[in-house]
Amino acid sequence: AQRQRHISRHQWTQSLSRDLHNFVIQLLPTAEELAVKEDVRKLLERLIRTIEPESRLLSFGSTANGFSLRNSDMDLCCLIDSSQPPLSASDLVTMVGDLLERETKFKVKTLPHARIPIVKLSLDPSPGLPYGISSDIGFENRLALENTRLLMSYASIDPVRVRTLVIFLKVWSKRRKINSPYLGTLSSYGYALLVIFFLVHVKNPPVLPNLQQLPPPRPVPYEDTHIGGNDVWFFDDIDLLKERWQSSNTESVGELLIDFFKYYSRDFTYNTGVASIKMGLLKKSAKGWLNEYKDGRDERNRFCIEDPFETDFNVARCVTKEGLYAIRGEFMRASRILAARPERTIMALAQLCE
Ligand code: GTP
Ligand code: MG
Repeated sequence: AQRQRHISRHQWTQSLSRDLHNFVIQLLPTAEELAVKEDVRKLLERLIRTIEPESRLLSFGSTANGFSLRNSDMDLCCLIDSSQPPLSASDLVTMVGDLLERETKFKVKTLPHARIPIVKLSLDPSPGLPYGISSDIGFENRLALENTRLLMSYASIDPVRVRTLVIFLKVWSKRRKINSPYLGTLSSYGYALLVIFFLVHVKNPPVLPNLQQLPPPRPVPYEDTHIGGNDVWFFDDIDLLKERWQSSNTESVGELLIDFFKYYSRDFTYNTGVASIKMGLLKKSAKGWLNEYKDGRDERNRFCIEDPFETDFNVARCVTKEGLYAIRGEFMRASRILAARPERTIMALAQLCE
């Protein structure tokens, strides 16, 4: 009976893995959508260069990190290459906003005084673009470009397992309404970091190496690896890495998903722990990230996920008491559904995301 049960669990997780894979493939953007987005990026770059000739407009976030869903937003970042930019980021936001309003069909909104000043663009759906486009253009947000590159590198070490898990978690968290930093839950970026933390630090043997702790293949000068005092170095030569490092973890993506939900519903120490992909599990007390629930308002450190580069920054700072309750409840619900092992694995996925 033991053996019988063991085999059926294996078969069940194999079937779950196949379904997960097919589920995610259907949600990926089409080549056509990616081409339209690239055309839009080039057009916007050309226009912005009429104001600031030495600028570049680069994609970051899901359009650039390999975790993109069909019809997702475009995150763009404008970098100015001249050593003494004549305009401040907030002046640029205002000028670029005016220009795009005059010269394009986009609806434009500017936030010149935000922590990272941005121009928000949107285009209503049309026959050629059935979902429209929406995009945020930020200025000089170099850390976001680097953390996008880090996520991209992790994805390219083990594309099938990493991308399937992260994309599934994004869809699941959106459908279950726990992917809204403005409403007290966690961003897609936060969920992606939870997946990587799990694959690097929780799984034994690990599925991924810690790219920020591997020895550098060659010495790198300080100024090339620091942005505003933050160390942004990581092992980014993935071809070389694959010659030197291979995971001995052979679990299927279905098994990893089951364990992911189990870990975050049962084992992660929400009250005292900090998930750090650079350092492993840290203590809130060691980082000074303590909760001071003054009048129930200071909610910043209920749930702690350290940004890989900006290590003073808690990516989950927006998660409120109610938000964390909802997120943990969803991890438990998902764990329960998968533990029940419904006969048809596709039904388990449908139920998870319903
Ligand atoms: P969707 O927009 O939901 O499809 O997902 P996404 O993959 O684009 O993720 P998200 O919009 O959450 O984040 C986009 C990018 O913004 C990330 O890849 C990061 O580069 C950056 N980012 C988002 N949130 C943070 C944050 O709290 N801190 C930092 N440093 N960067 C962030
Ligand atoms: Mg995004």
